[in-house]
Amino acid sequence: WTTRLASSTPPKFNSVTKEDIAHFSKILPPTSILTTLEPASASPSELEIFNNDWIGRFKGQSTTVLKPKTTEQVSQILKWCNERYIAVVPQGGNTGLVGGSVPLHDELVLSLANMNKVRSFDPVAGILVADAGCILQSLTDYVAPHNHIMPVDLGAKGSCQIGGNVSTNAGGLRLLRYGSLHGTVLGVEVVLPDGTILDQLTTLRKDNTGYDLKQLFIGAEGTLGVVTAVSILTPPAPQASNNVILALPSFNNVQPLFRQVKHHLSEILSAFEFIDRTAYDLAVKHGQGRALESDEVEGAECFVLVETSGGRREHDEEKLSDLLEDLLSAEQPLINTGVLAQNPAQFSSLWALREGVTEAVSKEGKAYKYDISIPLASFQEVVDGTRERLRQKGLLHDKAVKHVLGYGHVGDGNLHLNIVADAFLPEIQDALEPYIYEVVQSLRGSVSAEHGIGAMKTHALPYSKDKASIDLMYKIKKVFDPKGIMNPGKVLE
Ligand code: FAD
Ligand code: MLT
Ligand code: ZN
Repeated sequence: WTTRLASSTPPKFNSVTKEDIAHFSKILPPTSILTTLEPASASPSELEIFNNDWIGRFKGQSTTVLKPKTTEQVSQILKWCNERYIAVVPQGGNTGLVGGSVPLHDELVLSLANMNKVRSFDPVAGILVADAGCILQSLTDYVAPHNHIMPVDLGAKGSCQIGGNVSTNAGGLRLLRYGSLHGTVLGVEVVLPDGTILDQLTTLRKDNTGYDLKQLFIGAEGTLGVVTAVSILTPPAPQASNNVILALPSFNNVQPLFRQVKHHLSEILSAFEFIDRTAYDLAVKHGQGRALESDEVEGAECFVLVETSGGRREHDEEKLSDLLEDLLSAEQPLINTGVLAQNPAQFSSLWALREGVTEAVSKEGKAYKYDISIPLASFQEVVDGTRERLRQKGLLHDKAVKHVLGYGHVGDGNLHLNIVADAFLPEIQDALEPYIYEVVQSLRGSVSAEHGIGAMKTHALPYSKDKASIDLMYKIKKVFDPKGIMNPGKVLE
């Protein structure tokens, strides 16, 4: 499949040459240039981590990775690449799941890893300004002593960068509570392909001065410019956090459960995450988080992880206990059982169960990942329908496909439909697409809820966006990047 993609978009940009490296050497110290061009400063194997995506589905052949430390250096690099017609792939933590962060051919990789300083933090307003290459977990650690948290949290927090989060408009586990980055990002500093530094790094909560240009870079996936810094609103840390995992006898109970949980917990509800039985079993099989007792999982078709974040522990615990009591004492209980975390270690391990599904899936095999927004009522039928289709095609279980599973952010209407196979095979791909995208379209859903389009879904855009919108996207691309050097083959074909 990767080969098919690579050959269908022949490279049209200039490759990096020794002369280019000589020029970059005037901008960057030798340690910030990794190249396999003679005289080489890196071996091909050292460039592998930059050329391969997290899922192992996309592979580039870049010869050169640059790691600037300052915005000025980024500006000089892009200006040169633009003049020389060299394509550039901005790369953060390379944890993206749609093949957006790696080259498709031999594009230059511009890694933000060395731009990793916090620029300022205002503890009164809770506004953090940080270089794009700061790792999400390190920012969480930075604001923690000030009693603040990052408004975004995801399983890849130990590797992904805030610039990558903004560039993908990452959703994650806290969106239900703190909203999307379109709301919490207050400003960005961006370098445009011609080297222009766009200073939109405002720390203002309110700023109605015409078009809100920063919004275009939130979710642009490196196709319009390089984000070099981010200004972001960090919420106050909750005084108390609790979580509980609920085992449900049937998926049909998820919707009424969500209503009841919202009704009971109201302002303290901070997450409502879903994993189906297959996802749970895989997480347990691969040692992710705390396995429930066998009697607790017996008869469970799926699980929901509920988190509360509030101001007073006793008050929150009381609300959660009342909820559990009500749920279990109902005439026809929506849940079989609920396991409440009793201490911080259990709290973390329940989360690890949910966050660990991604890793478990990748340990189990090759993952076809569909990150879709659809009405909650349709989650199960889409998972079951996909499984049935693969069965009918003779691809299930003993033939290539090992598992079809669903998990995700129920509270946000975001299902992660994963198909785990022994290998990426054209017959599986053909069974899944356009089938899944057509189903999403029929439900007026989104083919990408939170992971982006990358290289994986450029052909799928029309299932979620009309022609007029896509035409406008091409025009916007042309305004910012007239030569098309920024992350070609991503988002737009
Ligand atoms: P990369 O993967 O390096 O890049 C992603 C895209 O952004 C690429 O197109 C790249 O070119 C561009 N880019 C990166 N940095 C810049 C920059 N500074 N300027 C311009 N463009 C840039 N995603 C979610 O939304 N929710 C989740 O819950 C979630 N959980 C995950 C869990 C795991 C275990 C893993 C592996 C991934 C998960 N992801 C999730 C996907 C991924 O972590 C996010 O998309 C993340 O925001 C990517 O950040 P990154 O720094 O790794 O970016
Ligand atoms: C998640 O919610 O776990 C992430 O988006 C990653 C994934 O889809 O596997
Ligand atoms: Zn997710």
